[in-house]
Amino acid sequence: MAATDKKLIVDMQGIERRYGDEETGVLALAGVDLQIESGEFVAIVGSSGSGKSTLLQILGCLDRATRGRYLLSGKDVLSLSEKEMARARNETLGFVFQSFHLLGDRSALENVRLPLEYRRGSKDHGSPEEVLQRVQLADRSSHRPSQLSGGERQRVAIARALVKKPELLLCDEPTGNLDSENSRQILDLLSGLREDFQTTLILVTHDREVAARADRTLTLFDGRWQQEAK
Ligand SMILES: Nc1ncnc2c1ncn2[C@@H]1O[C@H](COP(=O)(O)OP(=O)(O)O)[C@@H](O)[C@H]1O
Ligand SMILES: [Mg+2]
Repeated sequence: MAATDKKLIVDMQGIERRYGDEETGVLALAGVDLQIESGEFVAIVGSSGSGKSTLLQILGCLDRATRGRYLLSGKDVLSLSEKEMARARNETLGFVFQSFHLLGDRSALENVRLPLEYRRGSKDHGSPEEVLQRVQLADRSSHRPSQLSGGERQRVAIARALVKKPELLLCDEPTGNLDSENSRQILDLLSGLREDFQTTLILVTHDREVAARADRTLTLFDGRWQQEAK
């Protein structure tokens, strides 16, 4: 890789993920290299079953590669204990999923506040009220998810992901359950938030139009890059 002043937040080499055993198992990732600089917006596309979610789970320290090397902000993830992985998730990462994953019996504001309950220590974080305002839902703060539209639910989920000011925001098909107007709004919001919060953004999608908003797009095919990752 060319010399650069920018910090590499993600540095993966030869990442493999096998589900099951050598003979009958599935090789979901078959040797993936990936370098992402701090502040980049990278889209990962590919058809269903190409390994997108598997890669995102490994990037997010929710799952471990079965082979390869992964440095997250310079830290060797494969050598971390479960506890240290959980801490990395807590301190460095934010997640947004297709199906929102909000708690149905909590209000919008309570959902946004949740990550702070699990955070010990004094690392800088945002105020849940302010983040909810930033996603333009201040007037919905006491609503439950069932009282919100799909686009509004995803905005709550984004606010929840950002309240800890993560270095890296991972989004798995964030617009997959939304119509085109709401998808556009969510993408505008993510782009704007990335500038405000200086967050690195990795977005998985099967929608090329969504991917077109990113700085660069990488395509997975059968667990490998279709074109060379840079
Ligand atoms: N927990 C699992 N156990 C076994 N196979 C899995 C598991 N998760 C994913 N796979 C397989 O790995 C491959 C990649 O899946 P996935 O990463 O979910 O793809 P995508 O998100 O691109 O649709 C698929 O063949 C899928 O069936
Ligand atoms: Mg998937």
